[in-house]
Amino acid sequence: MSLLEVSNLRVHGPARTLVHGISFSVAPGERLGLVGESGSGKSLTAMSVVGLLAHGLRAEGSVLLGGHQVIGQPDRALVPLRGSVAAVVFQDPRSALDPLMRLGEQLAQPIRRRARREGRTLSSAELRAEQLRWLDRVSIAEPERILHSWPHEVSGGQRQRIAIAMALACGPRLLIADEPTTALDVTTQAEVLELLDDLARDEGLALLFISHDLPVVARITERVIVMQHGRAVEEGPVNQVFSYPQDGYTRGLVAAARQLELAVRGMR
Ligand SMILES: Nc1ncnc2c1ncn2[C@@H]1O[C@H](COP(=O)(O)OP(=O)(O)OP(=O)(O)O)[C@@H](O)[C@H]1O
Ligand SMILES: [Mg+2]
Repeated sequence: MSLLEVSNLRVHGPARTLVHGISFSVAPGERLGLVGESGSGKSLTAMSVVGLLAHGLRAEGSVLLGGHQVIGQPDRALVPLRGSVAAVVFQDPRSALDPLMRLGEQLAQPIRRRARREGRTLSSAELRAEQLRWLDRVSIAEPERILHSWPHEVSGGQRQRIAIAMALACGPRLLIADEPTTALDVTTQAEVLELLDDLARDEGLALLFISHDLPVVARITERVIVMQHGRAVEEGPVNQVFSYPQDGYTRGLVAAARQLELAVRGMR
């Protein structure tokens, strides 16, 4: 059975329809990429999956997440699914972090939530051990200092690592990553991508990975959907779509990525 089954998803804005009927599924452990230009509807599609559309937007169609219908459900019905079935890592880690809470306390929340779900109570020593284990898994140096720090006292790369740790500590089966490295410098980008790749593999997670960066999507995912103007214009195995793009828009994207790659090589 699919972990995520999206059928004819439409997202309506106040003035116009923004996503025009998109369908796809993600099996347990599978990795699907969503690519496409800015404004093509990638984030709206991802947010619809977890029922986190902004005020004023309305989704129609069907989204089955872990077998539960998301569309039209009140928030209280969706809260138990978030974290346990699907967790999200955003482009800007600040959106996942509370600026007024120390990082240790923030990381403790998903750890406690997961323990509660599994019927375990954690002693403070066990909680501390779990916090340190997660910081180690996301390769954070100086974990003791980080646990006592406020979000503004750590780097953007560290914030994103902590946001990833918080997402994974919930124990989700699907990780939705919406441009998770776009806000980082190139070196940190590569490190965080590798981290996501490794963690997803270790945890056996399914991935819905959103990016406008084709080479990154090709590296991380197996299957890809190309979006333009709120529609899927092409879909298939990542190698096939990028090696033999059928749609004119995809051909343009692939050609642009090639040119960029050649330009970067020429600079070396
Ligand atoms: N809250 C909103 N109200 C009205 N329109 C919105 C809202 N959020 C997004 N849109 C519009 O919906 C369209 C799709 O937006 P979306 O955020 O999904 O794009 P995207 O593919 O994620 O782009 P990017 O790569 O820039 O993140 C855009 O035209 C955007 O302006
Ligand atoms: Mg977006």
